[in-house]
Amino acid sequence: MTVGFNTRAVQSGEFRDERVGNVTTPIFETSTFYNPNPNPSAYTDHTRDKAFMYTRWGNPTLEALEKKYALLDEVEESLSFSTGMGAITSTVLSLVKGGDKLLSVKELYGETFTFFTRYLPSIGINVDLVKLDDLNSGNANLNGYAAVYTESTINPTLGVCDIQMLGKQVSEAGIPLIVDATFATPFNQNPSKFGAAFTVHSGTKYIGGHSDILLGLAGFEKRNMEKVWGKRKLFGASPDPIQAYLGLRGLKTLGLRMKVHNENASEVAKFLSEHKKVARVLYPGLEGSSYYEIAKKNLKGFGGMVSFELTGGRDSAKDFARKLKLFSYAPSLGGVESLITLPVETSHLSLTPAERKEAGIADGLVRMSVGIEDKEDLIEDLKTALG
Ligand SMILES: Cc1ncc(COP(=O)(O)O)c(C=O)c1O
Repeated sequence: MTVGFNTRAVQSGEFRDERVGNVTTPIFETSTFYNPNPNPSAYTDHTRDKAFMYTRWGNPTLEALEKKYALLDEVEESLSFSTGMGAITSTVLSLVKGGDKLLSVKELYGETFTFFTRYLPSIGINVDLVKLDDLNSGNANLNGYAAVYTESTINPTLGVCDIQMLGKQVSEAGIPLIVDATFATPFNQNPSKFGAAFTVHSGTKYIGGHSDILLGLAGFEKRNMEKVWGKRKLFGASPDPIQAYLGLRGLKTLGLRMKVHNENASEVAKFLSEHKKVARVLYPGLEGSSYYEIAKKNLKGFGGMVSFELTGGRDSAKDFARKLKLFSYAPSLGGVESLITLPVETSHLSLTPAERKEAGIADGLVRMSVGIEDKEDLIEDLKTALG
């Protein structure tokens, strides 16, 4: 029987022990396990099909999170990480080595951009970056690349990558595609269904959902477990069991929250696009957006992020952000509460002005993570601050 997203979110993956009768997964706060475990019916760790041994290698609370996430994102296997960057660096480095070439886009989350342009070249891995629109055109030459990496919805300019088209292209070329689907979440998109071999998430955002943890997740086929697991173990990028527990709990309400994030952000984007003090709004769900058709084809919902520029530029943007009562002036995103930030000061601070220009990030660009508060209240707050 195929059950719906919310049923899977609530019921799947939990570590239930019939002898105890626990309904929810306990936090296995232990760094080590008996080794060898003499019990012939000992539980086995899905990362290597052997009894648990050491929490950096695997832990039942992490496994419950990994199983729930895998069922929601429709991937065979998954691993959790201490942060989204832990998931990204471990996954990429399990696929490319010195002398290889990676293809990606110019519009990327700032830290991923730094990893690709500063760190990978220092260990002999060359990264070619093309414009998202060039990748979407279907004309990118994939010859000679060991892997292709993209974000499904770009942070912070909210362009949408045509994963359906790219997935076909990479399968023909026999190259693995890695998709950072943090903004889409497993509720709005399952990149594996479009041919992505690896999906990565900052679980810090919507999956955790309450701005109180750092977490990463990666999904892939079982045959890739050993190499990604090897990097997680080597880099020490496993989450601790408390974070994993909070991620597991967050996943249970992901569907309910995303439904409201999708609705609220659509309303906020529409309101802003009609306001005379707003110069432009970047939201893939607006019919006027150049990504509207690609978004409709690739996403089940347009997401909870809205970016925009005010006619008065950076100074008015900062002034406006400080006047808001319901949007906190803070980086990060994906929590129940609304946040507002200027990417030039936070997520994309490490880029040079020229790199930001290439990525389409103006100094006055404002990025909002629209929360699950009542949309009427959010719009009233925006109206007052703009007035
Ligand atoms: C799209 C995207 N990917 C990855 C990351 C990194 O996640 P973390 O901060 O959990 O390492 C972020 C963080 O903002 C992000 O926005």
